[in-house]
Amino acid sequence: MTVLRIENLGISFGGVNALAGVGFTVRRGDIFAVIGPNGAGKTTLFNVVSGIYTPKTGRILLGDKDVTGLPPHQLARLGLSRTFQNLQIFFRMSAVENVMVGRHLHENRNVLAHFFTLPSVLRQNKTTREKSEDLLALVGLRDYADRSAGALPYGALKRLEIARALATEPHVLLLDEPAAGCNPVETEEIDVVIQKIAASGVTVVLVEHDMRLVMKISSRIHVLDQGHTLAEGDASEIRNNPAVIAAYLGAQGVTEVRRARG
Ligand SMILES: Nc1ncnc2c1ncn2[C@@H]1O[C@H](COP(=O)(O)OP(=O)(O)O)[C@@H](O)[C@H]1O
Ligand SMILES: [Mg+2]
Repeated sequence: MTVLRIENLGISFGGVNALAGVGFTVRRGDIFAVIGPNGAGKTTLFNVVSGIYTPKTGRILLGDKDVTGLPPHQLARLGLSRTFQNLQIFFRMSAVENVMVGRHLHENRNVLAHFFTLPSVLRQNKTTREKSEDLLALVGLRDYADRSAGALPYGALKRLEIARALATEPHVLLLDEPAAGCNPVETEEIDVVIQKIAASGVTVVLVEHDMRLVMKISSRIHVLDQGHTLAEGDASEIRNNPAVIAAYLGAQGVTEVRRARG
């Protein structure tokens, strides 16, 4: 079953085509990775799909509904959520409050007005708190619920960000570089969390630079380069694709890889 379909997506900034004719289909239960060198258009793709930018060409279908151009809060209501490449954590709030805010930010259009009523909302809404604690448990942060987010180590913050994105109960979750800046232990923890999320029935679309992680957990991999689709396939197809190797390593690299393989 198709949960997300991108068709002929295009957007440009100034003279730069950040995306040009990009299309793919994500199926239910996929861990679908989007990879590509810096500047390939990965974050722009997420910005368009999550409603932050309106595309110049193309369509975005969530299930069979055309959602092109809908704003983020409407997309959240339709079951799409995302994390950001840079942490979007409120460091003075506790971990559980950060997750609860994730819920409320998407429930209310006027974020600022809502912000002033936040303390009372946070106190009153017991269900929200319980659901948020469950999400913390899912990402391995159950014991950190009442700790100040500012006191959490970096790897835990990356997982807190994921818990917050899950607070709107999405069925499609876009993760922009969830393991960026993580050490191998933290990356392994993120790996486990992503697989748990996928196993719980949420379809995951992942932008990630850590190729070991991508190759290990992704069911499909879509490769972008300078706004264009370069390739799509499973891990072994992508790993052995000369155009992909060239995009990452340059033509010189292809020769070296060939030599190294004997
Ligand atoms: N808001 C913006 N304004 C101007 N240029 C942008 C903007 N967002 C992205 N770009 C440009 O689009 C291209 C793709 O960027 P991005 O999507 O961030 O790449 P990636 O996430 O793959 O590293 C880059 O050339 C970048 O400079
Ligand atoms: Mg990016």
